[in-house]
Amino acid sequence: MTDAMPGTAVPVHLRAAGVSLVVDAVPPGLPRVLHWGRDLGDLTAESLVAFRDASTPASFSVDHTQALSVLPTGRECWPGTPGLVGQRPGPADGGSCRAPFPDLRSTGPVELLTTGPDGGGLRVSATDPEAGLALTVELSLDPFGVLRTVLSITNTGDDPYEVDALRVLLPLPPSAVEVLDLTGVWCHERSPQRSPLVHGTHLRANRRGRTGHDATLLLTAGSTGFGFRTGEVRSVHVAWSGNHEHLVERFPEGAGLDTAVIGGGEVLAPGEVVLAPGETYRTPEVFFVWSGDGLDGVSRRLHRHVRARAVHPRSARPLVLNTWEAVYFDHDLERLRTLADVAAAVGVERFVLDDGWFRHRRDDSAGLGDWYVDETVWPEGLHPLVDHVRGLGLQMGLWVEPEMVNPDSDLARAHPDWLLTPGAPLARSQQGLDLANPEAYGYVLDRLDALVGEYSLDYLKWDHNRDLHVPVHAGRPGLHAQTVAAYRLLDDLLARHPALEIESCSSGGARIDLGILARTHRIWASDTNDAVERQSIQRMTWLLLPPELVGSHIGPARAHTTGRTADLPFRAVTALFGHAGIEWDIAGCTEDELAVLACWIRLYKELRPLLHTGDVVRADLADPGALLHGVVSADGTEAVFGYARLAPTTDSYPGRVRLPGLDPARSYRIRPRYDAGRPELFGRAAPPWLREEGVVLPGTVLTEAGLPMPG
Ligand code: DGJ
Repeated sequence: MTDAMPGTAVPVHLRAAGVSLVVDAVPPGLPRVLHWGRDLGDLTAESLVAFRDASTPASFSVDHTQALSVLPTGRECWPGTPGLVGQRPGPADGGSCRAPFPDLRSTGPVELLTTGPDGGGLRVSATDPEAGLALTVELSLDPFGVLRTVLSITNTGDDPYEVDALRVLLPLPPSAVEVLDLTGVWCHERSPQRSPLVHGTHLRANRRGRTGHDATLLLTAGSTGFGFRTGEVRSVHVAWSGNHEHLVERFPEGAGLDTAVIGGGEVLAPGEVVLAPGETYRTPEVFFVWSGDGLDGVSRRLHRHVRARAVHPRSARPLVLNTWEAVYFDHDLERLRTLADVAAAVGVERFVLDDGWFRHRRDDSAGLGDWYVDETVWPEGLHPLVDHVRGLGLQMGLWVEPEMVNPDSDLARAHPDWLLTPGAPLARSQQGLDLANPEAYGYVLDRLDALVGEYSLDYLKWDHNRDLHVPVHAGRPGLHAQTVAAYRLLDDLLARHPALEIESCSSGGARIDLGILARTHRIWASDTNDAVERQSIQRMTWLLLPPELVGSHIGPARAHTTGRTADLPFRAVTALFGHAGIEWDIAGCTEDELAVLACWIRLYKELRPLLHTGDVVRADLADPGALLHGVVSADGTEAVFGYARLAPTTDSYPGRVRLPGLDPARSYRIRPRYDAGRPELFGRAAPPWLREEGVVLPGTVLTEAGLPMPG
């Protein structure tokens, strides 16, 4: 870090883990990013000044040109998506709208928040007194090279100011020529799509009222043909569970120093955020990650960032049995007790009772909101089941969907005004509950608090099963308020029950983002437990999240969601690379199947210290029908890999496959693990290294020549 002393004109240089961020923030200009990418080394004040002077571009078709600020608008002759859009409505008699294009100028030198060899942060304040606005820009680089940005805008005027958009945009260099993002639907989340970075806007805007099955997780721009292991890439993630956007944008003029911009923020509806005098709107955290060694480099930084957060679970991730696909709504005490007995016998550590336990919930058309145990199904409450589960030494979890209500519920009948949008089309027979209404909020918090307290619950599976297209609170678009209230609900509940763990589920994997994960402890990746589908869903989920946060369960041989059949070893090895569990009526399993499950659970317990702390690696294989991924310990001494063949090849043998992430200077003992069974296709033609006793090979052979894979 090179300190910029007050009053000097030296750009600030933040450095961490091989990343440099050079920010020029000389009053009255807003901060401009001169460099975000590979570490530039220790730069003196003179070289930073020279860098800035050499950086003044001449790419705009106007007389006075400069690099874009982090909040580009037409004020900088930026023709693209503006960093700030807002308005202060004019008088009712039709007079002019005041200050439609604010001229925000920084009011003082950069404030250095933290400094050190492992990153640091800065804050810049700016105002436009005539427009009645004050802006704060925060940029910080964490020890892993993850850049966190937050903007806030304050209404310093004397009448309301409507914020329509506040987004942060960073420059992309000319080498960024391809875009990768993700899309998807229920049971097929996080499907990658690629496109060239051409002139125009590549915008992934979400107005679903939740993060979405089609959420991109990361929007990435990079060099030609970048992959998991190669290429220079820059990614952005907006940590927000409501409406949001990610974008990459390029114009003929370029973006000043560079050719394009990347960024994002919250998507606000007109009239959704109107600041009274003195009020402030803060953007969600927007994270930017650079990597010089492909997407695995981005994930490595992000996983370390996520693991360093206070909310990140520190205890061994317990093997879960979730009852949904085992019993659905058939809540029968004896059946569930038997399921728990079998679960305990094979080594399960946490038992989660899914949907169907509360009043009127005999199917998915009624009952949401009535958060009392159904007396007709559970005359003694959940105690007989909870006591039994605890007696077996298992933790107890329960499913809830606190942000929702069925019109067919006592709650909706008693409080029709608590519905988020009365009269809006139903989805899964349900509506949002207006959590920004203090009474509705208080009711739900108290019910959750009572349930967690009465049953000493270890865990909640917190679901959210519909898009919220037209949320209205107090006559205004209400999604922002709803998202803030949902976060507060989680925070308040955790404050009352600090040991509670919460899973973010949303019709499978429709709420995965670092906003919800600032107050939850794992995500449900998808409602599909089809191992073939799961291979690619999990691979892409690891772009953002480390495996220990990604719920990953073994389902029955014939997947409920796709009808595809897969053998047990393949299902087991697929579910191993996550926070593993079971989503299957194992009370109906054969003795052989239970024996395999018990061995697989022992393997999970043996490997989880490595799987849940190491670096995720994914190979870029030429063969489109195969996937290879692994987790390598931070010191490079041990690793576990999974190789999945999802489709046949047209070659008789797939050839040798390099194992990424290993240290070429070491030797490794390679050992196949058949704990969960030996795949049948390993016939006589299996390569010798697949023998149980394994083989010792130099790291160079494994990383450069590779291992022959079975055909
Ligand atoms: C959707 C979830 O994704 C499922 O796992 C299950 O919990 C159901 N909801 C219950 O209604």
